[in-house]
Amino acid sequence: MGRVVVVSNRVAVPRRGEPSAGGLAVALKDVLKASGGLWFGWSGETRKNPTLEPRQVRAGGIDYATIDLSDEDHKGFYAGYSNNTLWPLFHFRLGLMEYDRAEAASYRKVNRDFAQALLPLLGPEDTVWIHDYQMIPMAAELRALGAQQRIGFFLHIPFPPFAVLSALPDAERLLRDLLAYDLVGVQTKRDLAGMINCFQDGLGLTPDATGGVRGEVAGQMRRAQLSAHPIGIDTRGFATLARKAAYGPETQRLTASMGDRALIVGAERLDYTKGLPHRMRGFAALLANFPEHLNKVTYLQVAARSRNEVASYRNLRRELDSLAGRINGDYAEFDWTPVRYVARAVARDTLAGFYRAARVGLVTPLRDGMNLVAKEYVAAQDPEDPGVLVLSSFAGAAETMEGALLVNPLDAEAMGETLDKALKMPLPERRERWENMMRGLEEQTATRWAESFLAELEELPLPEQDLLWA
Ligand code: G6P
Repeated sequence: MGRVVVVSNRVAVPRRGEPSAGGLAVALKDVLKASGGLWFGWSGETRKNPTLEPRQVRAGGIDYATIDLSDEDHKGFYAGYSNNTLWPLFHFRLGLMEYDRAEAASYRKVNRDFAQALLPLLGPEDTVWIHDYQMIPMAAELRALGAQQRIGFFLHIPFPPFAVLSALPDAERLLRDLLAYDLVGVQTKRDLAGMINCFQDGLGLTPDATGGVRGEVAGQMRRAQLSAHPIGIDTRGFATLARKAAYGPETQRLTASMGDRALIVGAERLDYTKGLPHRMRGFAALLANFPEHLNKVTYLQVAARSRNEVASYRNLRRELDSLAGRINGDYAEFDWTPVRYVARAVARDTLAGFYRAARVGLVTPLRDGMNLVAKEYVAAQDPEDPGVLVLSSFAGAAETMEGALLVNPLDAEAMGETLDKALKMPLPERRERWENMMRGLEEQTATRWAESFLAELEELPLPEQDLLWA
């Protein structure tokens, strides 16, 4: 048995003094630890002339190997093609998507560099698991260098249908890159349908009876298995974190400051896919149309600044600053601030306590691969007196979280009505909905997700691609 080798753009190298890692990192670390594995990716640093010699450290039974990016590639690969082309495209935001050939070339180059840097570290029996949109061509680059190992890919963000993907000048090449993997995993059935539609309409490839597509990539015939593996969280761990945090100074301060008002909470990266302005407008609609909540409810939105080098993120920041100010200007009283808007990251355990203190978790992205905040909010609740999850039907999580109140975030009035319903929901209904969701979360943990993906990958026959020519 070889090791599991995880590749992702961001690598969660443990650093002293940093808050504990999230559920995804914990789950990956568990499978890495069990196999004596390696986690490879970007160091998070940029420099003038980086080498392809990875920096290696060992911590907690896991090897980490990272490389730096050049300033130019940070601009072209990371800020450009990954986050100003692929990110908006895969989230159905064609109006925000930009395309630049030099950035597309930088994306290819970084994937080639990653492949070159990783190859010497790989053993023949290793299983490689590559993550997310930043790294799609990496398996094709590894194959071009002769890698024969099993290679799996998981896309954490939505997979749009070809009508959307085809806006990308490189769409067919990107799809062909996916054929270099043995297994391509996505979050939901909806994403799987999107991917299959892309293979059909983009490359004319239809899945076989067992869910694989065959096609040519870099002169080789290959077969990629396609499947959905919805990601989960460390449900028990997060529930414990929230239970403890509820007694911590931050949650105590928060609840003391609330008096007997109800709390609505939202927390994410400050990203246009999260529908933050829509959420603020939905909250304003609650106040406008249900005046009984005036001075009785506070909405706390934590929005951790993110990808500031991309203009659309800076524009969003300005929009939110002004919207929050506007709503408070319209509705605040001298002793009540309706919107508490915190545009920076808050520690994970502090957030867990805030979730538990909140009567409503408001998670309303315009598109989202899964959305783990929705799951964490539910896991954090007090079983005796749980809060209500208001969830966008465009989050992957909506496919399985039946106990949530689903909303279309584009409809501010509907969001206001749903918030009203959530705030007035009687305890027995809250409990029933919460128990229903909690059962699902206890089954579908992050560890299960990682194990089921790797089990499927490892059961696939080792690539003997020449035979497929027959
Ligand atoms: C999303 C993506 C990840 C990414 C993370 C943070 O969750 O799916 O791949 O790492 O956002 O974004 P950043 O650009 O800071 O890595």
